[in-house]
Amino acid sequence: MAPLPDVQVLLGVSGGIAAYKAADLVRRLRERGCAVRVVMTAAATAFVSPLTFQALSGHPVGTGLLDPAAEAGMGHIELARWADLVLMAPATADLIARLAAGLADDLPTTLVLATSAPLYLAPAMNQQMWRHPATQENLARLRGRGVRILGPAQGSQACGDLGPGRMLEPTQIVEALLADRSAAGAETGTDPRSAPGPGPLAGVRALVTAGPTREPLDPVRYLGNRSSGRMGYAVAAALAGLGAVVTLVSGPTALPTPAGVARIDVETAAEMHAAVLGRVGAADLFVAAAAVADYRPAAPVAQKIKKADTQLIVHLVRNPDILAAVAALPDPPFTVGFAAETERVEEQARTKLLAKGLCMIAANQVGAEQGGFERDENALIVLWADGRRDFPMMPKTRLAGELAQLIAERYVASP
Ligand code: PMT
Repeated sequence: MAPLPDVQVLLGVSGGIAAYKAADLVRRLRERGCAVRVVMTAAATAFVSPLTFQALSGHPVGTGLLDPAAEAGMGHIELARWADLVLMAPATADLIARLAAGLADDLPTTLVLATSAPLYLAPAMNQQMWRHPATQENLARLRGRGVRILGPAQGSQACGDLGPGRMLEPTQIVEALLADRSAAGAETGTDPRSAPGPGPLAGVRALVTAGPTREPLDPVRYLGNRSSGRMGYAVAAALAGLGAVVTLVSGPTALPTPAGVARIDVETAAEMHAAVLGRVGAADLFVAAAAVADYRPAAPVAQKIKKADTQLIVHLVRNPDILAAVAALPDPPFTVGFAAETERVEEQARTKLLAKGLCMIAANQVGAEQGGFERDENALIVLWADGRRDFPMMPKTRLAGELAQLIAERYVASP
C-alpha cells in the first residue's frame, strides 16, 4: 500500500446514506498515514453520529459554525489553514449546489471558502439527481475552479434505482487522491514526462473515451452499437495503473468506474464531442476507444413513432469526428485512436492513422465471429508512423495493460 504520509485531510461529510462509508474512509486514510479531522453538515449527523467520527479520527468533530466550545479549541479558520487537502465525501447534490454558489451557510461550506487547500468531492446521490442539468452545471462550475471530482460509480442505489451516483468505495477514493497528489507534485516540474512517480506515466493527464453512443430516434428508441465499454475501461484502468491521472468520458455502459479514474457520463456523440473538447486542453494524452456513432437521426421526434406505414425512412446526418477534431487541434495531446474493422483491418487502420493525423492506432477485427465488441477478449494490431506491434487474443484487461505500456513508451519517446 502506497502511503500518503503526514497529509492533513479535512473530511467534510454531508447528509446522504453514503455517510456510513465515510466512517471507513477515515480508517483507510489513517492507515495510509494521514491525519484526519472531520466536519459534518447537520443532515449528515442524522445518518451517522459525530461520536463515530471522533472515535475513528481521534479528534473532536465539528458540526456547527456557532459552537463556542469548538471555536475555543481549533477554530474554523485555524482548521481551514491546517488542511493540506479538503475532501467532501459524500458530497450530496445539495452540498455541490451550495459550493458552486459559493455559500458559507454551515461549517463545511465555510471551511471550503476559508481554505487555500485543494478541494476534492466524492459525489453520492440518486442517479436522476446526478443527471439533472442543474447538478451537472454546478459540477462544471466547480471543475472550472480546479475542484477535483472523484466518481461517482454506477450501479444499484440505496433508493432502488440503477445508474450513476454511488459514492466511490473508500479505497477507490484514497487511490484517486494518491494518483492526483502524485500528479500535483509533478505539476510543479516543467514536464510531467520527467516527473518522478510510481509509474512511467506519473503526472500525465490522460483523457479516454469508452463505450457506445446512443442517438435518439424518439423518446423511447435510439440507434446504438454493440460496444460494452470493456476495452476502453480497461485502458483507462491500465493508464491509471501507470500513474496517469485519468478522466474517462463514457457512453452508457453497465461497468463500474475503474479505481482512481474520474468519469464523465454522456449519451450521444454530440455530448461526447462536447465533453472531450471541453477537457482536452488539459490533457497530455488522448485515447479514443469509444464506438462513436458516425450518424444520428436528422430530426428525432418528440413523441413515440407509431407503426403506420409498411416502411419508415429515417434521415441520418453525420456526427462530428471527435478523434479527428482532437488530432487537428493546434497543440494536440499525444493522440491514440482505435479502428474497428470487419475486413482489411491493417490497411484500413493505416488509412485512418494517416487521414486523422494520429500518433498511434489500435486496430481490432470486429464482427459476429471475431468479437472485439462485447466479449472479454480481444486482439490488436497497433500501428504508428514507422512501427507496429501485434497483440494476440487475450483478456481485455491484460491487453489494455500491454497497450498502456506501449503507449507510455511511445509517449515518452515523442518529441
Ligand atoms: O467496448 P467493447 O465491447 O469492449 O469493444 C471494444 C471496441 C471494439 C469498441 C474497441 O476496441 C474499438 O475498436 N473502439 C473504436 C470503435 C470505433 O468506433 O472504431 P471506428 O473505426 O469506427 O472509429 C475510428 C476511431 O475514431 C475510434 O478511435 C473512434 O473512437 C473514433 N471516432 C469515430 C467516430 C466519431 N464520430 N468520432 C470518433 O472519435
